[in-house]
Amino acid sequence: MNILFVTPECAPLAKTGGLGDVSAALPPALARLGQDVRVLMPAYGDMKLGGALVASWSLPADGAWPAAQLLHVERVDAPSLLLLACPALYARGGTPYTDAGGRDFGDNALRFGLLARVAALLGTAASPIGWRADVVHANDWPCGLAPLYLRQARATDGAPVAASVLTVHNLAFQGLFPLTACEALGIAPAHRRIDGVEFWGQGSMLKAGLQFADAITTVSPRYASEIQTEAEGFGLDGVLRAQAARLQGILNGIDTTVWNPATDPLITERYGIGRLEAKAINKTALQAACGLEPRRERLLLGHVGRLTGQKGVDLIAGGADAIVRGGAQLVVLGSGEPALQAALSQAAARHPAHISVHLGFDETLAHQIVAGADAFLMPSRFEPCGLTQMYSQVYGTPPIVTPVGGLADSVNDAAAGGGGFLMAAATQAAFDEAVARATAAWAQARRWRGIQRAGMARDFAWDAPARAYLEVYGRVAPDTGMRLAR
Ligand code: ADP
Ligand code: GLC
Repeated sequence: MNILFVTPECAPLAKTGGLGDVSAALPPALARLGQDVRVLMPAYGDMKLGGALVASWSLPADGAWPAAQLLHVERVDAPSLLLLACPALYARGGTPYTDAGGRDFGDNALRFGLLARVAALLGTAASPIGWRADVVHANDWPCGLAPLYLRQARATDGAPVAASVLTVHNLAFQGLFPLTACEALGIAPAHRRIDGVEFWGQGSMLKAGLQFADAITTVSPRYASEIQTEAEGFGLDGVLRAQAARLQGILNGIDTTVWNPATDPLITERYGIGRLEAKAINKTALQAACGLEPRRERLLLGHVGRLTGQKGVDLIAGGADAIVRGGAQLVVLGSGEPALQAALSQAAARHPAHISVHLGFDETLAHQIVAGADAFLMPSRFEPCGLTQMYSQVYGTPPIVTPVGGLADSVNDAAAGGGGFLMAAATQAAFDEAVARATAAWAQARRWRGIQRAGMARDFAWDAPARAYLEVYGRVAPDTGMRLAR
């Protein structure tokens, strides 16, 4: 089966969060199951090619869209990349979505509209590259228009076009644009209404995907049901309930070639379930690197992530004094909302020997925190899946998490023999209580080892989720003669 995986980010070329990791790992897992997979993404500013350029095609200017190029890059041990090069739209500083000051680019609708447009083109007979997708797998709002464009192509020439799957990695980000842009985006008048892209007087790329994809997935089963409620649906719960029969949650996997304490080149000392004592070397190195008092007996709590309300970072800042009073230390790496950055920095200023805060994006330090901390904090208010709580479990760093979304689906509580700690709710009191519970468990060395081992024994590899995606593809594109390698 020919699968086009279209995404706005793919590690290590471009990554702002978990979608970058998923885009790097799921396509190779599908390829290992015998599928012909290509990954389509924009060629951003100073991005490296990530492999050898073997072909390129010119795409003519199209209405508001400038001319572009499609570059075919062969990679070692990974499916081919198709890079969409259009310097006027993508060659900029900042992140894939925002300028260096964190503001969304004003032309994001056009930027990602083009990505979706080209994805859809590769699923039709007009595909210029001598390869045509049977399934276009679109990810998040930046790819949301692809299912709509495929639906329009299906309606106009009647020729077979690819089926579409939309994966929602985060419903909070929706890709809103003024309805007046519909013309430039090539959205047919019939699809500009409330049963199409219209969302409270604007257009929504995510809603387009939800309305027109042949199947919708989210990144955990629990999140798939949460987003059908008014409280968690970000205004789209009604649309999701209407599509419930086509909606399914598949828990993400983790890339065990990148996140494995036995082979990780970014950490100080490698270790595994049979050599857990070596983990302490990473703790000592982390304490030294962060300027913390080098105290082995103090529980070292870590956090890595986007510093946003979603991640419950206010609970970490609010619990910082109690963490130090309870005899623990804290190291945080992240960037995000200025108020949260300030609250964390102030906590570090109050307790310089026991709290260390790093503002920015640092892949190496992220690995060192996951390996060197004793326990990992992830008190998210909502969490579609979350990857770091899985990374930290396999690194023997039990996570302290809220009972929501993918956190609830991937962490079992130590009280029930699991490898982490589930908070009762996303409140300060529940956070402080869970930290105290972890601190008490840490004081009992044998008990702690048991909790670590329970997490390290978990299998979060991509094979099982990749098979689940193949089943979804097979359902939406049954005529492609796909055989699952069982
Ligand atoms: P989300 O996608 O919501 O941000 P995930 O847990 O799915 O959350 O994925 C986050 C990914 O981004 C992980 O690989 C994590 O290590 C990485 N990450 C987040 N913030 C940083 C940072 N400041 N520096 C390095 N890596 C980061
Ligand atoms: C989103 C979600 C996160 C998820 C990631 C990858 O960024 O916030 O929970 O793990 O996508 O699916």
